[in-house]
Amino acid sequence: ELADEMRKLEQMFWIDQQKLKEIVKQFEVELDEGLKENNKNIPMNITWVLGQPHGDEKGSFLTVDLGGTNLRVCWITLPGARGQPSIVQEKYQLSKEVKTGTADQLWDEVADRMATFIRDKRLDETSTQPLPLGFTFSYPAMQDFIDHGVLQTWTKGWDVKGVEGEDVTIQLRKAMEKRNLPVKLVAFINDTTGAMIASAYHDPETIVGAIFGTGCNAAYMEDSDCIPKIKGRLPQGSPVAINCEYGAFDNSHRVLPMTKYDKIVDAESPRPGEQAFEKTSAGLYLGEIFRLVLVDLANRNLIFKGQDISRLDKSYILDTGFLSAVEDDQSPRLQDTAASFEVHTGILLNDQERQVVRRVTELIAIRGARLCACGIAAICSKKKITHGHVAADGSVANKHPKFKRRWADALGEILDWQDGRTEDPIVLTSAEDGSGIGAAVIVAMTLERASKGE
Ligand code: BG6
Ligand code: GLC
Repeated sequence: ELADEMRKLEQMFWIDQQKLKEIVKQFEVELDEGLKENNKNIPMNITWVLGQPHGDEKGSFLTVDLGGTNLRVCWITLPGARGQPSIVQEKYQLSKEVKTGTADQLWDEVADRMATFIRDKRLDETSTQPLPLGFTFSYPAMQDFIDHGVLQTWTKGWDVKGVEGEDVTIQLRKAMEKRNLPVKLVAFINDTTGAMIASAYHDPETIVGAIFGTGCNAAYMEDSDCIPKIKGRLPQGSPVAINCEYGAFDNSHRVLPMTKYDKIVDAESPRPGEQAFEKTSAGLYLGEIFRLVLVDLANRNLIFKGQDISRLDKSYILDTGFLSAVEDDQSPRLQDTAASFEVHTGILLNDQERQVVRRVTELIAIRGARLCACGIAAICSKKKITHGHVAADGSVANKHPKFKRRWADALGEILDWQDGRTEDPIVLTSAEDGSGIGAAVIVAMTLERASKGE
């Protein structure tokens, strides 16, 4: 019976080449719709980052990153001439209370951390001018200017009251003013845009900035002529970075395969019906899908017979780090997997169950990587990009041992790359520090444009 069930799971989670292509086709349609009008499913947010950097951007800048796992504050110096930036930084963990509390709590926390950082590093003594700030906010925000942004919806399990529909920069500015911080917010950016710009600062072959982490999203450079929703607001033929926010792809469930486990993840999230694509492919959810599969098998008495599974019954107890470790396990009879699973859940695995754990992990991670390829394939196919570097950041891209190979294989299947090729024409590279260096470079570019009166 267990063998039957495993066969069903294999089918349920496998996405073949034809299905990948079908998904990408629909993906391209939704990307285009987002460029035409506001309030479409994929927002295709205009970032007002106008063009790639030249590499000669210079100066010292404060950056704040909110939206990955931590709150990070940095002081970045760009030496110019594509030189190596220097970074002074502090990371602070954000509690669940802050991520699901009130706007005041959130911005007080951010501004307090900034105040401590500025004081400890004595940055207020470096200049009589306010410190220029690049603020990376890794959630969907609609922007009319580079230094403003209205949160469309929280994603990645965040749920802070009083921020959706509000201008996030006004809220942060107020909290900074309350503390008299000597700071001027110059640029408000997304982590994907940061990844793209940070990488392009060193690598002119960068075509996309992508995050494969807690969430899943990408930014690329679009031609203003191809963005009907801002017709006339930019000179013809100007490049402008688009933060796709494609975690929202297929919220209407036309093509994405949804298993019963995906439906539970969605129903139990703070925003059911949103971020359909992200919920099947991003790091935050992979461990949860895995947990739900195991709970289902256990409830049907196919595994963990006679064991107490109450700890496994708690949502989100297994993260992508756990799945990565399982796939990395080279120990005899998967001993390391068994030991780690016992630490997390209190459950002892027999040999057969170790194999089940390993295979289910693979099925979910393989599906995730193949879906992640669809978003990038859609951008490349739509823009007719055949070569270049996809600068990626995030815990899945950086820490999962097999993600890159699976992602590249799927991209090749979608874009019909030739078998036996010596190298892939589109390559996943590690993004430079997007929310640090990327944010700093964007601030420098913005100040330079302003100084020229553009
Ligand atoms: C970090 C970047 O390296 O990766 C952040 O500095 C980004 O800007 C983050 O949001 C994404 O990864 P994760 O895994 O924390 O979601
Ligand atoms: C979520 C956010 C998006 C971010 C991505 C990666 O999809 O909505 O803004 O880029 O996660 O962090």
